[in-house]
Parts: sequence; structure tokens; C-alpha cells
Amino acid sequence: MVNRLNNKVSFITGGANGVKGELMGIAGAYAWMASNEGSAVVITDIDTVSGKLTADQINESGGKALFIELDVTSETKWKNAIKQTVDYFGGIDILINSAGIHILKDAEETTEQEWDTMMAIHAKGTFLGTKHVVAEMRKRGGGSIVNISSICAMFGSPTNTAYHAAKGAIRSFTKSAAIQFAKDGIRVNSVHPGYTETPFTIAPFSVPGALESRLSKIPMGRLASADEIANSVLYLASDDASYVTGAELVVDGGFLAQ
Ligand SMILES: NC(=O)c1ccc[n+]([C@@H]2O[C@H](COP(=O)([O-])OP(=O)(O)OC[C@H]3O[C@@H](n4cnc5c(N)ncnc54)[C@H](O)[C@@H]3O)[C@@H](O)[C@H]2O)c1
Repeated sequence: MVNRLNNKVSFITGGANGVKGELMGIAGAYAWMASNEGSAVVITDIDTVSGKLTADQINESGGKALFIELDVTSETKWKNAIKQTVDYFGGIDILINSAGIHILKDAEETTEQEWDTMMAIHAKGTFLGTKHVVAEMRKRGGGSIVNISSICAMFGSPTNTAYHAAKGAIRSFTKSAAIQFAKDGIRVNSVHPGYTETPFTIAPFSVPGALESRLSKIPMGRLASADEIANSVLYLASDDASYVTGAELVVDGGFLAQ
């Protein structure tokens, strides 16, 4: 399919890992898909090298892309990045909140600073993006916000404590925002990926036995690809999901069905 996002502008956080020939992240894969569907794409990240390269490659392949350095924990930087986008592309229709980090620590091991950083990137970052983008979406008559949560929002584990909590915050914030902005034609949904092969999972899955342990718990018996998650993000971003808001789309190979 082509042109599902014709004349739209997608603003993407954590989108630097979209370099051709390298392992892509979810937002990087979405950037290419959205561009192929007719959307201009604004790739933002703290990783300026890969972010710029991804935007350059999309432009070279005939798309419309812009890289903006954005640390999602800074309200000032959010305001500047949104202004820069509107100056360059004329508005914003779609926001993909995908920036994230993980820390493999239990509740006793996690420091106060690690907890605060985790919450700042996931929960506060998603909040700030939503807060400042809705005014621009209203000017366009509506929009779609897709927040990348995780299956970790729906169960606990003895490790990753702060990550589970931060992803849970995104899950419930999404529903509050969906209710508040429904009258403006702005849909807000969350995607809950299962274990996905991206740059994010290289380190945790290189711990001996970690990958095998995950795979044994996935009914489909394999990890997701970034494209498989990005396809779900694209669905929610597009008008195909015109009556979908406040929803949680689980994409996990059957993990949570058990
Ligand atoms: N890979 C998985 O198994 C998996 C599963 C469930 C959820 N997720 C979530 O998907 C999202 C994308 O992860 P991914 O797997 O595509 O990996 P990824 O490494 O491609 O994406 C994470 C990106 O976030 C950026 N980032 C980190 N801190 C930032 C900050 N303060 N401001 C802006 N950008 C920042 C990183 O530079 C990186 O480019 C994350 O929110 C992650 O928690 C991933």
C-alpha cells in the first residue's frame, strides 16, 4: 500500500536507528514506512550521528525528512523542536513517542537517579510531547499520537523494575489524553511491543541464556522485527484507525495470551 499518510507530517522521537543496512529500531523503521506512505518525517533523537544519517538517506531516496536533536526530557527543547518543524514543514499531524532506555535492576538496586531518569524519558517525555503538539494538531483539524509502551506495562518481573513502572505510566497517560483530546479529533493510542530485535535489545539479550529464556516464553517462538511493530504504529497513525482511540495494541507473538 502507498499514500496512507499522504501530505501528513510525522514527528518521531527516538528515531535515530533508521540507517539502511544497519539493525533498525521501531521508530527508525516507522520513519521509512511513513515516508513511503507519503508523510514528511521529522526524526528526533539525542543520537545526532545516526539521526542525521537516517534523515539524509530518506531525503536521498526521494522522501522528505528533517533531523532535529531532541532530548525528550526537556520542555524547552520540545517547544523549540515543534516550532522548527512547523517552520519547516508547516504543521504536525502525527506524533510517535518512542524514545526509551532500559535498566536491568530490581527495586533495591535501582538508584533514585536511575528511577528519575527512567520516568523522565518515558513518562515525562510522552507527556511533554503530547502537551505541546496538540495545539499544532488542532490547527490541522486533528491528529494521531502513538505512544510506544511495552508488554512490560501489563506484567511485573523481578528485574527492570523502573522500566515496568515507566511503561505503565505511558499506558495510563495514553487513556487520559485520549479522553481529553477526542473532541479535537486527536486520537491517542499505545502500542505494546513484545521482545523485538532492535539496537535496544542487543545488550540484554547478549547475557548468556537471556535470549533463550525469552524465546521459550513466546508462543510464536521468535522475536518481532522492528518492521512488524512499526506496521502497527503505522496503522494507528493512519486514518485506517479513524475510530480507534485510548486503545492498547499488543504486538507480542502471543506472549500475553498465556
Ligand atoms: N526492542 C524491544 O524489545 C522493545 C519492547 C517493548 C518496547 N520497546 C520500546 O520501544 C521503544 C523504541 O525502542 P527500540 O527497541 O526501537 O530501540 P532504539 O534503540 O532504536 O530506540 C530508542 C531510541 O531512544 C533514544 N533515546 C534515549 N534516550 C533519549 C532521550 N532522552 N531523548 C531522546 N531520545 C532518546 C535512543 O538514542 C534510541 O535511538 C522504546 O521506548 C522501548 O522501550 C522496545
